[in-house]
Amino acid sequence: MSGSLRKGSYNTMLLNVAARLLPEDMEMNIVSIAELPHYNADLDLPDAAERPAAVATFRQQLAEAEGILISSPEYNYSIPGTLKNAIDWASRGTDSPLLNKPVALIGATPGGFGTVRMQAAFLPVFVFLNMKPVFKPEVLISHANQKFDEQGSLTDKAAEELIGKKLQALRDLILKSRP
Ligand SMILES: Cc1cc2nc3c(=O)[nH]c(=O)nc-3n(C[C@H](O)[C@H](O)[C@H](O)COP(=O)(O)O)c2cc1C
Repeated sequence: MSGSLRKGSYNTMLLNVAARLLPEDMEMNIVSIAELPHYNADLDLPDAAERPAAVATFRQQLAEAEGILISSPEYNYSIPGTLKNAIDWASRGTDSPLLNKPVALIGATPGGFGTVRMQAAFLPVFVFLNMKPVFKPEVLISHANQKFDEQGSLTDKAAEELIGKKLQALRDLILKSRP
């Protein structure tokens, strides 16, 4: 999932780059967080059928995934509210599709620090949900405004290689986590 709803989002572009770099035996579906309402515990009912339709669909899409790749900007040194809202909707109940799940986090910014503070802000979330983060290699795309061509391909080949390695590490973790 992308943490940005912006049409020209570097992070959505990064997600599309990752989709092209997937190991052969992996499949990726991009899940949108655009239609989710603001989190409201009154609507977060234990029966999935009673949750808002967009929430039920989102949770179902995550439940079908053996692992999650998140590509997100950093907003005010942290997780964008829109993305945190999506995580919150998916996080509740013993049927949360986030619990114990392998996850890889990457990010892009026109700034110089590559979303490192957003990625650090995710750590307590991963801990609380007992998720299995792929820590290495870190994918921190700084100066993103200079790193994509017209077709949305990454021109920074070293960064592209890191994304490939991150996906490989996510794949290995998924395989290890299978019952
Ligand atoms: C509300 C807001 C807060 C931001 N805070 C940061 C920040 O803390 N660090 C950073 O590197 N960029 C920050 N930016 C700039 C974003 O990195 C930039 O808008 C980026 O293009 C967003 O990602 P996207 O291209 O995927 O939409 C902020 C942008 C917005 C709109």
